[in-house]
Amino acid sequence: MTILVTGATGNIGRRVVDGLVGAGQRVRAMVRDPRTARLPDGVELVHGDFTKPKTWQAALKGVERVYLFPFAYVMSESGFVEQAASAGVHRFVVHSAAAAGFSPFDDASALGRHLEEEREAHRGLELTVEATGREWTHVRPGLLAAGALGWASGIRAEGVVRAPYGESGYPLVHEADVAEVAVAAMLTDRHVGEAYTITGPVKVTQVEQVAAIATAIGSPVRFEELTPEQARSTWLAEGYPAETTRWLVELLAAAVDGPGVLPPTGTYEEITGRTPRTFARWAFDHAADFGGEPA
Ligand SMILES: NC(=O)c1ccc[n+]([C@@H]2O[C@H](COP(=O)([O-])OP(=O)(O)OC[C@H]3O[C@@H](n4cnc5c(N)ncnc54)[C@H](OP(=O)(O)O)[C@@H]3O)[C@@H](O)[C@H]2O)c1
Repeated sequence: MTILVTGATGNIGRRVVDGLVGAGQRVRAMVRDPRTARLPDGVELVHGDFTKPKTWQAALKGVERVYLFPFAYVMSESGFVEQAASAGVHRFVVHSAAAAGFSPFDDASALGRHLEEEREAHRGLELTVEATGREWTHVRPGLLAAGALGWASGIRAEGVVRAPYGESGYPLVHEADVAEVAVAAMLTDRHVGEAYTITGPVKVTQVEQVAAIATAIGSPVRFEELTPEQARSTWLAEGYPAETTRWLVELLAAAVDGPGVLPPTGTYEEITGRTPRTFARWAFDHAADFGGEPA
């Protein structure tokens, strides 16, 4: 059986590839540039691009199962899913997002608009897959711990993180946990037709995240709290769109005193029997990204 992994060079995709290779599966990775993919020996690298339909046939030839990366927001209409089904794919494991499981938002805040956009895009892709009539599992990560990589340059250069709402936080999920669930869904039948929202074990505040990174790299990291206005102007100067700076501030503001838009789910534990990896573990695994010794 050949399993195609799309987004194979991404945070989660690399772990999915590792998990499938470790389970002895024949893996093909669809990547835009095979020369820079750095995937394990034995993985078949095929050039493929979601924006270039002419590349899909070679990527899909002989494939029975697909790990589907949610490329941008155009995927559900691109035709890739239908072409995969026609080419013989009979199981899709969809890399989705927690927002796909939210109820429609009608609040007019920037955060409400953003979450509604995310919900529509990811749920749209899920529905496209469901409409093929093939087997599917939707793996919906909550906020990825990998988001903290955005702090890496500031930590390496100055040992500092500047952000608003130090006491805000979400149950950030380790990419390895998401990948583990995806691999289980790919290789066993008991997850067919299920949608899983996967989070980390507990809410971890930004101050706690910074402390965990400092411990992982073995050197101090300072958290400098910005006002929401200072944060927005910093992000605007860094090139973030104005709308993004608005919803980012609102996302953090919502989770100062409570769980914000996403409390922890027990899904990973229900599936694997183990507690999810902590943020401290994630920081340890990524110490090198922040200037520490590799794990
Ligand atoms: N950030 C969050 O907290 C969060 C939460 C839930 C869900 N999500 C979803 O998860 C995704 C991020 O996952 P991740 O962190 O594992 O990914 P990632 O590290 O951002 O990796 C992106 C992947 O997309 C591939 N890619 C980009 N453009 C492509 C194209 N035109 N054709 C084919 N492949 C293309 C890249 O492959 P190559 O460059 O090798 O071709 C790479 O493997 C987001 O897009 C979002 O939809 C994010």
